[in-house]
Amino acid sequence: MNPAPKKLFIVAGARPNFMKIAPLMRELRRGVYPFAAKLVHTGQHYDKEMSDVFFEELEIPKPDYHLEVGSGSHAEQTARIMVRFEEICLKDRPDIVVVVGDVNSTLACSIVAKKLHIKVAHVEAGLRSGDMAMPEEINRMVTDAITDWFFVTEKSGLDHLLAEGKPRDSIHFVGHVMIDNLFHQVEKIERMSPDVFSTAALKQRFPEYGVVTLHRPSNVDDPQVFGGIMGALSVVAEQLPLIFPVHPRTRGNLEKFGIAVPERIVLTQPLAYMDFLNLFKDARLAMTDSGGLQEETTALGVPCLTLRENTERPVTVTEGTNSVVGVDPARIVAEAQTILAGRGKQGRRPELWDGQAAGRILKVLAAEA
Ligand code: UD1
Repeated sequence: MNPAPKKLFIVAGARPNFMKIAPLMRELRRGVYPFAAKLVHTGQHYDKEMSDVFFEELEIPKPDYHLEVGSGSHAEQTARIMVRFEEICLKDRPDIVVVVGDVNSTLACSIVAKKLHIKVAHVEAGLRSGDMAMPEEINRMVTDAITDWFFVTEKSGLDHLLAEGKPRDSIHFVGHVMIDNLFHQVEKIERMSPDVFSTAALKQRFPEYGVVTLHRPSNVDDPQVFGGIMGALSVVAEQLPLIFPVHPRTRGNLEKFGIAVPERIVLTQPLAYMDFLNLFKDARLAMTDSGGLQEETTALGVPCLTLRENTERPVTVTEGTNSVVGVDPARIVAEAQTILAGRGKQGRRPELWDGQAAGRILKVLAAEA
């Protein structure tokens, strides 16, 4: 008789988690792994356009548990997730908790699991920016301090984990689930009519455009820094119109600080995944402080300027199309102009970013759990 399947909890909480769990859920649905998986949504992100639309478009099933924690300070949010996640772990007793990325939900659920002697698998482990002012850096380090299986997207992750003394056989360089999802969605887009996307009209209006996303507290919470970046973007926009889907935090601060936005920077609501993909895949240039977009642009060969002082994803710079340019307005303008003059760097797709990462992860867990 086959042993009972192991119980997996797959955890997602915030927007950048959803594209990472989608390929895992898809792969699990093939029914070839010895797991009974349940999906836990912490509710860290809750607006329709920050959460529900991703579930629909990325074909993620309805969560088995929704913890509905909502927003709050870091301590409030993390604590609420921990209390509610502990309840369901005690009730349902998973064998393994799979966490992805570096958001507060990742940190909270890994701590709870480990203290209940439940094994933790961290997908996208080992990334380090070296910048302890980033809440995500703390989340990454604490999660990796208690992780049992480290699934790594790029070689730098492997190097950091080894330098931190993690056992070599617990570290698995598997590629990137977010890129699995990207390729899956690109294939879907190619079969769809371009007119179905809300961004179709913008693409028609602007045959050439750049895409902007900004949401990091270090960029948008300080009026000086945010104003400086918007000033630089306004200069770039004179040459290339920019489309800027605005995160709720960013929207709030634009209004609070009274920052003027010229007409050639077009603000939109946060976009659904396919709408946004339809936009950035054909952009001349992306300017962002997102972690994920640095990688997605590298995978698709779109030039990217990262408006931060560092990146935890260095392969996007050493091999991909990304340049980390900081937030000095003159530098942002100069780097954008270099790209627009056709003198930007070329990139190639990093090793194992081939759409097969979810399968590799589940094979390791199936063999070792
Ligand atoms: C979180 C992640 C960050 C990730 C980002 C992507 C942490 C520490 N940060 O940051 O790594 O890059 O998600 O978006 O986990 N809000 C809404 N509607 C929502 C969600 C949030 O209006 O559905 C507003 C609330 O005012 C909230 C603020 O956005 O206070 C920030 O949300 P929060 O989840 O705390 O962090 P993010 O900045 O989104």
